[in-house]
Amino acid sequence: MLRTKINESSQFIKERCDLVPEIGIILGSGLGPLADQIENATTIPYSDIPNFAKSEAIGHANELVIGTLAGKTIVAMKGRFHYYEGFTPKEITFPVHLMNALGIKNLIITNACGAINTDFKPGELMVIEDHLNLTGTTPFHGPNDDSLGPRFTDLGETYNKELRNIAHSSAKNMGIKLQRGVYAWWTGPAYETPAEIKMIRILGGDAVGMSTVPEAMVAAYYGLKTLGISCLTNMACGILDEPLSHEKVIEVAKQVEDNFIKLVSDIIKNI
Ligand code: HPA
Repeated sequence: MLRTKINESSQFIKERCDLVPEIGIILGSGLGPLADQIENATTIPYSDIPNFAKSEAIGHANELVIGTLAGKTIVAMKGRFHYYEGFTPKEITFPVHLMNALGIKNLIITNACGAINTDFKPGELMVIEDHLNLTGTTPFHGPNDDSLGPRFTDLGETYNKELRNIAHSSAKNMGIKLQRGVYAWWTGPAYETPAEIKMIRILGGDAVGMSTVPEAMVAAYYGLKTLGISCLTNMACGILDEPLSHEKVIEVAKQVEDNFIKLVSDIIKNI
């Protein structure tokens, strides 16, 4: 069933673009403009792609863009599906199944998130070293097609060491500060309470956000190399005496956009 859907969707894309992407990239809040730098781009709205969930979220372009960037053939997701929008973990991760079928070997996942580690500052970027899934849900719930991947996925190196090293050396060369830490997945859409942030810190979380983990899990299922990069848009709830707002998150993500785009392009060049 899943295999049939993946084949249908990848066939649809291959009829529109014969490039074979080696890198997939999921662009989070504020990073969409990276897709505008893709050359020889074929742009396909999600609403045209068979088996893609229908998204009504505003502020996201919701397009798949295939082309070349920094000398590499890539497929970029401009806009993603979130659990809080009502999508199931299977719907959220279907694009990863598709990008794998298109041929990617590496997946770069980006997001905006709140900083829990008080060594971090809003506006800094963070490489994800590992994650905490605090949602109680998983994209692997239900039957597994053993011809696609394993029933029991190893998440021991969900975020690939080699790609993390490339990210740190790119950042160093470009003079961009790059933190490292554990990303905790919270369902949202409400931000966390101060008590929940204390709990997540005790559990080992350095940052908290509402995406990325399900996609990274499905990438691990296929043995793809994954790199996760977060934009720390705010200190998490209760750390500073100021309210959190989506407007502020977007504003900070926008301020960081240039550096984020420069860094990700350099990483792509060096993969
Ligand atoms: N919490 C959860 N998700 C987020 C945050 C946060 O503080 N900031 C941006 N995305």
